[in-house]
Amino acid sequence: MKSESFNPPFTNIAPYYDTIMSFVNYPGWVSYIETILLTNNVEAKQILDMACGTGTCLKLWLEKGYQVIGLDRSFTMLEICKKKISHYNNNLGLINCDMRNVSLKSPVPIITCLYDSLNYLLSEGDLLSCFHNVYNNLTPQGIFIFDMNTIHSLCDEWGNNTFHRKDKNIFSTWQNIYDRKTNISTLKLTLKIKENTKAVMLRECHKERAYPLTVIRNLLDNAGFSFSLYRHLTFRPADENDLRIMGVARK
Ligand SMILES: C[S@@+](CC[C@H](N)C(=O)[O-])C[C@H]1O[C@@H](n2cnc3c(N)ncnc32)[C@H](O)[C@@H]1O
Repeated sequence: MKSESFNPPFTNIAPYYDTIMSFVNYPGWVSYIETILLTNNVEAKQILDMACGTGTCLKLWLEKGYQVIGLDRSFTMLEICKKKISHYNNNLGLINCDMRNVSLKSPVPIITCLYDSLNYLLSEGDLLSCFHNVYNNLTPQGIFIFDMNTIHSLCDEWGNNTFHRKDKNIFSTWQNIYDRKTNISTLKLTLKIKENTKAVMLRECHKERAYPLTVIRNLLDNAGFSFSLYRHLTFRPADENDLRIMGVARK
């Protein structure tokens, strides 16, 4: 199969994203973040979710009484997000832009960036630009909460493995290739969707990069943050054997 037949990430899979991610415990992730906010004495109720995708977390925050801003580079993901949250009373809004280059009208007290989204930044320079942007868009003492896949996750879990899944009417194939020199994982994702008598096939190519924890620490430091890195869903200090880490960074 020619590589050209794979579309860029988050273009045509958007309407199917929630079905193929139905195994993700988003309510558990949001409760964990609420605990992080509590332990950091953050009482503010305004959140910018960067790379919000189809907005599942935004909806959960709205249900908890937060005002939310969603930001994503993918127009099609934001379209799904808009439908999901349009009936909530939310004064803020959705922004279609790149998280390396965000400039909000007014700074916000809480910024989140979840579920691998930062791994889609493929160079240290891009990650640093993003951290600088986050810093500049936070109010004084604002908090930035994010997760990232580790090198262990991309190299050893995904590796050069191909996974198959079935979620409702969608059969998906996740074909991974890991480059040890760059720590970039290339995923060729194929969805076969059965709709009545028709079957539709969609293909996208995704690239994620993992960074050593020392690099993440240096970049956060460089951007001006005080921070802690935890093993995801815990308050245990992160290490390279974790699959996913959670960063909590204060301005
Ligand atoms: C794996 S999805 C996660 C979506 C959502 N945060 C969630 O938890 O379901 C990654 C998201 O990051 C977005 N993304 C990737 N690179 C981006 C960038 N440079 N700027 C803004 N959004 C980006 C994609 O469009 C996609 O919606």
